[in-house]
Amino acid sequence: MILSRWFAFASLVGAAFAVPGKSLAKRTTVAEIFTDIEDAVTCAGCEALLVILQALAHLGNDDFVDVITEVCILAGIDDDDVCEGAIAREGPILAHDLRNMDVPSHTATLFCTTIFGLCDYPAITDYTVDFPSSKPANASRPASSGETPIQVVHISDIHVDLSYEVGASYDCTKNICCRPYTAADAPGNTSYPAGEYGNHNCDSPLDLELSMYEAIQTLVPDAAFSIFTGDVVEGAVWLVNETEVTNDLNDAYNTRMASYFSQIYGVIGNHDVAPWAYDTLSSDWEQWIGSTAATTADDYGSYSVKYSGGNLRIISFNTNFYYKENFWLYEKTMQTDPNSQLAWIVDELDAAETAGERVWLMGHMPMGASDAFHDGSNYFNQIIQRYDATIAAVFYGHTHKDEFEIAYSDYSNPTADTATMMSYIAPALTPTSGNPTFRVYSVDPVTFGILDFQVYFANMSSSTYQTKPTWEKYYSAKEAYGSLLSPPVTDSAAELTPAFWHNVTALFESDDSVFQDYIARKSRGWDYSSCTGTCKTDEICQLRAAESQYNCVEITPGISFKKAKRSTSSSSSEESACGESVIGKMFSNFESTVSSLKTAADAKLGTSFLATTVNSTVV
Ligand SMILES: *[C@@H]1O[C@H](CO)[C@@H](O)[C@H](O)[C@H]1NC(C)=O
Ligand SMILES: *[C@@H]1O[C@H](CO)[C@@H](O)[C@H](O)[C@H]1NC(C)=O
Ligand SMILES: *[C@@H]1O[C@H](CO)[C@@H](O)[C@H](O)[C@H]1NC(C)=O
Ligand SMILES: *[C@@H]1O[C@H](CO)[C@@H](O)[C@H](O)[C@H]1NC(C)=O
Ligand SMILES: *[C@@H]1O[C@H](CO)[C@@H](O)[C@H](O)[C@H]1NC(C)=O
Ligand SMILES: *[C@@H]1O[C@H](CO)[C@@H](O)[C@H](O)[C@H]1NC(C)=O
Repeated sequence: MILSRWFAFASLVGAAFAVPGKSLAKRTTVAEIFTDIEDAVTCAGCEALLVILQALAHLGNDDFVDVITEVCILAGIDDDDVCEGAIAREGPILAHDLRNMDVPSHTATLFCTTIFGLCDYPAITDYTVDFPSSKPANASRPASSGETPIQVVHISDIHVDLSYEVGASYDCTKNICCRPYTAADAPGNTSYPAGEYGNHNCDSPLDLELSMYEAIQTLVPDAAFSIFTGDVVEGAVWLVNETEVTNDLNDAYNTRMASYFSQIYGVIGNHDVAPWAYDTLSSDWEQWIGSTAATTADDYGSYSVKYSGGNLRIISFNTNFYYKENFWLYEKTMQTDPNSQLAWIVDELDAAETAGERVWLMGHMPMGASDAFHDGSNYFNQIIQRYDATIAAVFYGHTHKDEFEIAYSDYSNPTADTATMMSYIAPALTPTSGNPTFRVYSVDPVTFGILDFQVYFANMSSSTYQTKPTWEKYYSAKEAYGSLLSPPVTDSAAELTPAFWHNVTALFESDDSVFQDYIARKSRGWDYSSCTGTCKTDEICQLRAAESQYNCVEITPGISFKKAKRSTSSSSSEESACGESVIGKMFSNFESTVSSLKTAADAKLGTSFLATTVNSTVV
């Protein structure tokens, strides 16, 4: 589901209440209640807000959507069509959650954490993942074979906008432009005409997607296979419907990738969802993964398949089950293992271990990111620790940034010796937060360990970019960092192990210029500024966390605004989600937003209803 717009609005409401003030007390009018909530900085204040929203939800989806849409429009949070489209899509799911939610409860607290930033993350609900066998005493990461490496291409977050129009305005009020939203935005009418190959205010035009695929054919003609870590669909979430998701997925996989890639393994992204999207994905993927794996993918978007060219198993899993913006997950009692996906991953890994196979795990959202629920991330990490000798590496996208995450057997003592697993997070094609990029791994053909990677990019600031993008090597990981380590790691056969990457983070601490170079690369060479002080310590903390409770991302009121900001600079330690914008103008509208919500809720609910409802909840 596509929730971010509604999410941004909900965040606004949450942040609006985040001002210091008095404690809540029994109140009899909506206006008084809102005044109290406005003044609350507390988790209890958030819970009182949930009671109001819950009362609205009990009136039915239509009334709920009407009220919230009215407020969104009156408060000028976004263009009217964006308010209407986004809330019509996301409002009913949220209303469903609210109707079923106990306040207070674990679910309510989590909601107040992830949406409003007013509660601390609830403590992890302890759960010990069940393993069919215990870890073999001699389990260890195999040494490099020294055989000639193979090349594997990694692309991510293509976000292709099939409605992109060359010449349409790239200067608009919405989160992606380059579409003729109004007559004034139309080609010929605007002073801000979009070029053929994209703009930082827009998702990828088809010609940019094709330009990358052609560059991959030219620059990596001998690639053994490719991986794609998800997000095909563009970010105009207030317009996206099932027809479009299906069409976008079919176009990207069946029409485009099918003609450029003989073997590519896909992953479901958080934008690639709609009813029946699993059917579409499984039939699109079948040409590369075969009918057995495609049948599994049809269940909930995950599959496991043996690579025909070597002793490697590819496991592609659906991270939307642990994603905080997936409002379907906020059930009255939240599931420990939605769709039993974790149990399925365990079974696949155990069978791989028994068979002596190496495994690549692939997902969309990094499981150590601040977007990942602490609970699901903790359970997932237990699996990583159990099978760290079988899994060669984990691959993700979603953040649009060029980064990585290291897992440790002991997060209280992160060292080269306790580093157990690497997650490689590939930068995006879509130019909204950087230059278009793709990665190429140099891979041991026996162990499938990662020996190096090169990032390629097309520099959008080049004067010839809109005529024809020039794709070129940006940097190589081993060249950039290996020779600076002590001892140096420069042998082309040496694996970039978890210990190697831990040592790179230690180098970031000891040599600031290396760290600032990393920050520039993280944003794909565009719109970055230096990152020092807590920005730097938080960034390094995040690199050292493949389990989200350890990533040092602080819960603060209005945190979601930071996440939603377009082209977040890399100086922010906050992970940027794929997506949305809005921001500054919202902050300036707090007062009118809250006052509109008061008026609208008053009209719908009446004062007596609220007086009794809130009575029992407000502390
Ligand atoms: C671990 O020991 C088992 C049983 O002796 C053996 O079959 C297996 O190859 C060993 N694995 C490694 C990684 O040494
Ligand atoms: C350009 O704007 C004018 C006036 O707003 C409008 O009449 C015309 O249809 C627009 N052109 C296009 C191609 O939309
Ligand atoms: C879905 O969206 C597309 C593109 O915005 C639009 O042309 C189409 O009419 C929509 N379909 C439905 C059923 O709403
Ligand atoms: C990491 O650094 C330590 C010294 O701090 C060194 O002993 C070890 O060999 C390094 N590991 C790798 C993989 O470079
Ligand atoms: C991109 O090109 C611009 C203009 O030539 C240049 O200033 C900039 O350094 C280039 N960016 C990178 C990452 O090479
Ligand atoms: C509201 O509070 C009053 C006393 O403070 C109590 O008598 C009444 O039962 C409460 N109503 C509800 C619905 O809990």
